[in-house]
Amino acid sequence: MASYDHNHNNNHIHHHTHLNGDSFSPLSKKLKLSSSSFITHSEIQSEFSHHDSSVARINNGSFGCCPASVISAQHEWQLQYLRQPDHFYFNQLHKGILQSRTIIKQLVNAEHLDEISIVDNVSTAAAIVLQQSAWAFQEGRFQKGDVVVMLHYAYGSVKKSIEAYVVRAGGQVIEAHLPFPLSSNDEIVSEFRKALERGKADGHRVRLAVIDHVTSMPSVVIPVKELVKICREEGVDQVFVDAAHAIGCTDVDMKEIGADFYTSNLHKWFFCPPSIAFLYSRKSSPQSDLHHPVVSHEYGNGLAIESSWIGTRDYSSQLVVPAALEFVNRFEGGIEGIKKRNHDAVVEMGQMLAEAWGTHLGTPPHMCASLIMVGLPACLGIKSDSDAMKLRTHLRDNLGVEVPIYYRPPQDGEVGCVTGYARISHQVYNKVDDYYKFRDAVNKLVREGLQLLVVKEVLLNRMNKSDGSVVASESG
Ligand SMILES: Cc1ncc(COP(=O)(O)O)c(C=O)c1O
Repeated sequence: MASYDHNHNNNHIHHHTHLNGDSFSPLSKKLKLSSSSFITHSEIQSEFSHHDSSVARINNGSFGCCPASVISAQHEWQLQYLRQPDHFYFNQLHKGILQSRTIIKQLVNAEHLDEISIVDNVSTAAAIVLQQSAWAFQEGRFQKGDVVVMLHYAYGSVKKSIEAYVVRAGGQVIEAHLPFPLSSNDEIVSEFRKALERGKADGHRVRLAVIDHVTSMPSVVIPVKELVKICREEGVDQVFVDAAHAIGCTDVDMKEIGADFYTSNLHKWFFCPPSIAFLYSRKSSPQSDLHHPVVSHEYGNGLAIESSWIGTRDYSSQLVVPAALEFVNRFEGGIEGIKKRNHDAVVEMGQMLAEAWGTHLGTPPHMCASLIMVGLPACLGIKSDSDAMKLRTHLRDNLGVEVPIYYRPPQDGEVGCVTGYARISHQVYNKVDDYYKFRDAVNKLVREGLQLLVVKEVLLNRMNKSDGSVVASESG
């Protein structure tokens, strides 16, 4: 476990975290000059000095973060475009995107460069993959009632995308229901197998499995490699891994995972500005017919090329991957080192909070990445998604803490159980005081019997009679 310095974050050279046994990628070794060149505490602080210092930002998972050096590299790209757009278009854009794709290919251990496309975000990548399933129904290659299997925890917008593309085209969806809290991968594997069996009942074919790598809410690392293998054994046509959180947060290796399609954002855990994601499409997979949903001049030239020009727009976020890599390589062990220390720190902070509140973690440490679920005191009385959202809003608006809250309904016969979990993240800019602030805020609410929330709700409803509802949206 990382020994956590009270006053500073723990991602820097002077902190003697040991990374025994970690094999760092050549990418991280290449730019590492000497130990004295590693980033310092004050440099990290200055890289993130644009963050609102009044907020304990323990929610990197939703929107990620972007350091000042990468923001300035992005600004430089934007200026180059504005200075002479034609020169930029004919001489710089294509080369720049190729460079970003090359770095991503190495980071994720893909076999071929044309397996890597850069798109705006995971929502776009999902549309690309699901659109080809819809065409397969429309063109008679899939039969009405053929199945898509996904996790019950799949991200809300991806579920809607499946509905929009696949269900509308005649497919049916089967969900694998996972328990929570979780204690072992076996629970996930057995529920997933059951879902595949249900999918194959009545002679239907499972055409697509959509599997998260790191689920959003509740956050759990899914044993994707094992689930992909099961899909192959069970004759599932295609496997799409929604790994929105994965790059920079958990292990990402295309050859090892073996999915047909895999997508991850780089704006969550790889320090890129919004927005950029990669979509991997395995060259050796049969049947894939992927196209960008925004059609432009490059239509028909392969997804990677189609995606590199989807009309006039700002491509700068896709061009700063080298700058983001340069930033991560200022840390010991590059992205692997950051990932390992974030994981150790988030587990340590999760355990500290669970102990302070007399609760538990939602998963054992080996089933989480740089995010972990921590049980909130049952006396907070979280009884619905809307209560969870109210607590989150209250923490943001009145107590200076940004953290997503998850509602877990009591199971049959459960009384007085933990129904609320906080999803805490750890990123290089976090300090232990961020988590102490959260601990103390919750303790204060417990002491005050949550009166504040109740009072606030009544006031809000009175003031806002026309629309007093709080819309529960997902946390990202
Ligand atoms: C599991 C998962 N899938 C998909 C998404 C959507 O990502 P984006 O908003 O970047 O498209 C998210 C966002 O947090 C996510 O957590």
